[in-house]
Amino acid sequence: MTKPPSSSSTPLHEPGSGAQASSMALHGSLPPAEAGFTPGDIARLERCFALAHLGQYTSRPNPAVGCVLVKDGHIVGEGFTQPPGQPHAEIMALRQAGAAARGATVYVSFEPCAHHGRTGPCSDALIAAGVARVVYAMEDPNPLVCGRGLARLREAGIEVAGPLCEDTARALNPGFIKRMTQGLPYVRCKIGMSLDGRTAMASGESQWITGSEARADVQQWRARSCAIVTGIGTVLADDPALNVRLPEFTGPPPLRVVADSHGRLPPTARLLTVPGAVLQAGLASAVQAPRTTAAHWEYRQLPPALNSIVSNSAAFNSIAPNSTASNSSIDSGIDLCALLHLLAQDYACNEVLVEAGPRLCGALLHAGLVDELLIYMAPTLLGHEARPLAWLPGLQTLAQALPLSFADVIMLGKDCRIRAFVANRPV
Ligand SMILES: NC(=O)c1ccc[n+]([C@@H]2O[C@H](COP(=O)([O-])OP(=O)(O)OC[C@H]3O[C@@H](n4cnc5c(N)ncnc54)[C@H](OP(=O)(O)O)[C@@H]3O)[C@@H](O)[C@H]2O)c1
Repeated sequence: MTKPPSSSSTPLHEPGSGAQASSMALHGSLPPAEAGFTPGDIARLERCFALAHLGQYTSRPNPAVGCVLVKDGHIVGEGFTQPPGQPHAEIMALRQAGAAARGATVYVSFEPCAHHGRTGPCSDALIAAGVARVVYAMEDPNPLVCGRGLARLREAGIEVAGPLCEDTARALNPGFIKRMTQGLPYVRCKIGMSLDGRTAMASGESQWITGSEARADVQQWRARSCAIVTGIGTVLADDPALNVRLPEFTGPPPLRVVADSHGRLPPTARLLTVPGAVLQAGLASAVQAPRTTAAHWEYRQLPPALNSIVSNSAAFNSIAPNSTASNSSIDSGIDLCALLHLLAQDYACNEVLVEAGPRLCGALLHAGLVDELLIYMAPTLLGHEARPLAWLPGLQTLAQALPLSFADVIMLGKDCRIRAFVANRPV
């Protein structure tokens, strides 16, 4: 296992922040000041969002939150959520402020908690410190908690104002919000492709389509994810380790998950030989073969997928003749929705990064389980015989096309990174 998370560690940079070209970010702009709020309020919340970013790799499964305490126009304390079991953002800010917290205004990117979890309620700590006003960006989406922290503050006579800059606050914690409201993680599909949308040669060769800058950026997304999900096809073709290889990373290693209906994961697979937990998800009928002592390995049985596009193996193999897919004619794969529910509920997964081939990516897209595509596009053409981005049979008319919306586009070395949201995603 990697070192336990350290609160004093150097935070990782936001994926893609080292980009050469300017970002075409279309999201996250702050709204104009609303009635009752000043530009100063918004500026303080912007500081909270920047602080929250510092906890994005270590706070999970808790949301990444930032807090600022202001007294007489000056910041007297600030903080961000520490790893689980350690203080939340508000407590860090209160500690820094000390006696100056009395009468201060608290800016916080997320509703202060009101429950006893691994730490005490932050709302009680703010009341005890004697703060005068709390400006919050968004309510806690947990239906069991939502609004209670704010109610507690109001009951104690503290002025509470918000929500303010809610869209920006929500964009900080899409996984936590989706897990709390839907019992599912936020699913981001990472795909390296050529300019003509091809992800591997017909032979299966795909390493490496993109350059080192793009691959370094992927490491940042891995680092902030609770789990990395792949398919057995990719494991058999590429034997990836799927671990985080960043020297500065001290967060918990993401769970590596293999969708493997028939227990084909070899005991010698690289992902079993590097530190960190591995979850093999298969059908009840599968042989649970690859027991290993080299890594924390677990097998979970899942129901078969209903109406799976994988069941049409013959058609898939006609576009991917050397596919590593099993030959079973009744092969439907595992129920991917059940897998994601399992990851959210039993493993508290907020954000999941899928790094798989066209078959699993296609099945997830087909099932409406993907929230975001993270595409690394190389300036190269692989030709029509190479493999597609996603196996999505049955699309015959433009009206059936899967609508997306671009979030941002940046250059990474010679490659281009496109983030696109799947339209109508619920978060
Ligand atoms: N360019 C990139 O970013 C990138 C990334 C990863 C991989 N690749 C390339 O992709 C190729 C492998 O692609 P692939 O499509 O064969 O493999 P894949 O998508 O990684 O894995 C597909 C396998 O997952 C299993 N699975 C279990 N449940 C499933 C379900 N409900 N739906 C779909 N699949 C399910 C199936 O095998 P069982 O039926 O045996 O369970 C299926 O054959 C390789 O050439 C690799 O190099 C490219």
